[in-house]
Amino acid sequence: MSVETLPEAGYTLAGDWARGYESQPIEHAFWIDAVEGVIPPELHGTLYRNGPGLLEAGGLPVHHPFDGDGMVVAVSFRDGRAYYRNRFVQTAGYVAEQRAGRPLYRGVFGTQLPGGWAPNFLNLRLKNIANTSVLHWGDRLLALWEAGEPHRLDPDTLATIGLDRLDGLLRAGQAFAAHYHIDPFSHWDGGDPALVNFGVSVGLNTTIDLFEFDRDFRALRHQAFQLDGFAFLHDMAITPNYIIFVRNPMRYDPIPYALGLWGAAQGLRSLPGQPSTVLVFPRHPSLGRPRSFSAPSGFVWHHANAFEDGDTLVVDSVWYDHYVGIGPEVEYRTIDFASLPPGRMARMTIDLGTGRLERSFLAGRCCEFPALHPAKVGRPYRYTYLGAADAPEGNAPLQAIWKLDLETDAQQLWSAAPRGFVSEPIFVPRPRTAAHAGAVTPDLGDPLANSAPGEDDGWLLTLVYNAARHESEVVILDARDLGRGPIARLRLGHHVPHGLHGMFTSRAAPP
Ligand code: CO
Repeated sequence: MSVETLPEAGYTLAGDWARGYESQPIEHAFWIDAVEGVIPPELHGTLYRNGPGLLEAGGLPVHHPFDGDGMVVAVSFRDGRAYYRNRFVQTAGYVAEQRAGRPLYRGVFGTQLPGGWAPNFLNLRLKNIANTSVLHWGDRLLALWEAGEPHRLDPDTLATIGLDRLDGLLRAGQAFAAHYHIDPFSHWDGGDPALVNFGVSVGLNTTIDLFEFDRDFRALRHQAFQLDGFAFLHDMAITPNYIIFVRNPMRYDPIPYALGLWGAAQGLRSLPGQPSTVLVFPRHPSLGRPRSFSAPSGFVWHHANAFEDGDTLVVDSVWYDHYVGIGPEVEYRTIDFASLPPGRMARMTIDLGTGRLERSFLAGRCCEFPALHPAKVGRPYRYTYLGAADAPEGNAPLQAIWKLDLETDAQQLWSAAPRGFVSEPIFVPRPRTAAHAGAVTPDLGDPLANSAPGEDDGWLLTLVYNAARHESEVVILDARDLGRGPIARLRLGHHVPHGLHGMFTSRAAPP
């Protein structure tokens, strides 16, 4: 990012963005009274979000925000009011470091123990920092981190209950990814919703575990597959019959990590120019063996959605030219955005009969964190919503919420620039009638039957960091018309550091 000073005042975009990564050590719980606009009375349920809350240990900053301790935010809506709570996940590592008042662990993304090389050498202890996403399913609330098992939280108080091995399904330390997807009507399961998630165990080779659960969190299916070599897989896409991964061309050098020189993830390298591989796993063994397809080079963190069109698979994702890590010599808060490749929405079509794969970019704007209507997961869909740059070209921090109409290419944008920074948008369908208000999400209802028929008839919820006040706001947008601007801004009176992922459940937690 450039450090040019904006003309109106003595702030910089880079400085504003970096300040959004200040730690928030204080845990709050209050009714939100500072509301500009009106909270829709039919908006009923809880927005849960996760992200790094503490970006230091014992006063020493983390090297990468992905190494910050997980802090969950809950905003419960009912009867036109909202109750806010934020609480740290009491992971074993967080508790031990708080007690010790100093860092005790290296971070996966490069945070090192102080004291030079010696305390880091062959020190492969990592803390499960539970900071990536949150899942409400089958009366459990789980804080997720892709390299370990989930932490279970109380959905009302956010108190940490402990590690959750899912009734013995997971081994100690086994990975349960942060990017689950919910099939709203699984045809393998009588049309009931199914939670689909995966876990990746890496070593010389890679094992992918694929899990599916019913609405009570009972295991429906569990398959495990081996891949040759190293694979870095953050997200997947699902359709009624398939689970799809994009395996980007990467190599992994573990030696500097073992020697104490780098963080574990700093050994990740893109292999420019080499093809990606699309891995297509059947959700049910009766569909045969997994298949793979050669795809263009690049890097994908997140998929917007996928669907089946006859014998063709369509997969929409945010693509980068290559993976970007933060090397040992770089301070993340001074990253030059302009020097890095932007994420751009692209559509792949894969002909399962001929094996032919094509990729085309949908729009040029820099974007991340795609979202959609929960009833459209895995199905043909029309709208996706993303965090996006304020400017139409180039790489920049996410300051806008962007709506893409995939049928007409029409676009809408609401921007919080110059001093606001958005997070992942989450779409909440408007209930069909007031009586349906508590059942528009697949964990608690049928979003097709219970929500208004229009695919964009609902709200987008996003946390916005307002650097002018060093304060975060919950912003509610009308998904049909982003240009209207916020229906409501709920001012929190404190800031929440830039976060990662979350979800909305129709269950409204009591205060
Ligand atoms: Co992610």
